[in-house]
Amino acid sequence: MTHTTVLLHEAVDGLNLKQSSIFVDATLNAGGHSELVLSQLDGNVRVIGIDIDADAIARAKARIIPANTTANIAFFQENFRNIDKVLDQAGVAQVDGILFDLGLSSNQIEESGRGFSFKTDEPLLMTMKKDLLPGEFTAFDIVNTWGEDSLADIIYGYGEDRFARRIAKAIVTAREIQPIKTAQELSDIVASAVPKFGFKKINPATKTFQAIRIAVNDELGAIKETLPKAFARLNPGGRMALISFHSLEDRIVKRFFKEKAEAGEGRLITKKPQIPSPQEVAENPRSRSAKLRIIEKL
Ligand SMILES: C[S@@+](CC[C@H](N)C(=O)[O-])C[C@H]1O[C@@H](n2cnc3c(N)ncnc32)[C@H](O)[C@@H]1O
Repeated sequence: MTHTTVLLHEAVDGLNLKQSSIFVDATLNAGGHSELVLSQLDGNVRVIGIDIDADAIARAKARIIPANTTANIAFFQENFRNIDKVLDQAGVAQVDGILFDLGLSSNQIEESGRGFSFKTDEPLLMTMKKDLLPGEFTAFDIVNTWGEDSLADIIYGYGEDRFARRIAKAIVTAREIQPIKTAQELSDIVASAVPKFGFKKINPATKTFQAIRIAVNDELGAIKETLPKAFARLNPGGRMALISFHSLEDRIVKRFFKEKAEAGEGRLITKKPQIPSPQEVAENPRSRSAKLRIIEKL
């Protein structure tokens, strides 16, 4: 399965990269955006690709290198929180464009074996990262050790699930009998806690899984921490583009961009977020909640 890149042309065109630009793809996955950047600039661009998931780095290498053997691209398996470390290692002080295409790739959902898809006996990990250290924090810890209120708070806060309290209660009741170990077990517990109607199109556990994943990976904390660091590494005239899939993520990006614009440090390229065309949504339903915002550093 390949991940279909979301808002491909909108994001790449909006970054307005030129010949000899330095571009950071902070969420590389299979490198869909980077591939277009390389081809639009005939390879005359330096790409720094970051992904926390070792499998994603392997996918990007397999896709980009054979197609463009002279591509000037370096791969870093890192959390984008460590963008400063990556750029220092690459020997680069300032860059001309940075892209964040947030969230999970379809590959992670369907092939990672880390518990992102509901009807599997995969262990409840839900980490973006593949290689875990012993004792590393995972979805299992949240599901089996967090108190009922904390569970309800994230399912409501990050998942916006109106049945959050009932779901949290069902999780706590089920784990009193035995630990909840697999994605299938968790999705069955959620399904048993919510009304049967209204879930023809999506699995009843969708929002709960999203909430737990956001918490496991501290996804909102990562964006909050990284935005100022990334903006600081842009050259004047350089642009930063973010594609988010969750209203809380978009709110963080919107606020940060507004602050920079009001302080006279940035110019908003997207006054309103750009969203996928109806055709893109029809072809790739996963794109439906995407929002793209771009800022230029002054
Ligand atoms: C939606 S995919 C990117 C898709 C990519 N633009 C493409 O066209 O193939 C998001 C990627 O970001 C990575 N990711 C998410 N959070 C990250 C973080 N904090 N640091 C580094 N990579 C992260 C995930 O592992 C995933 O591979």
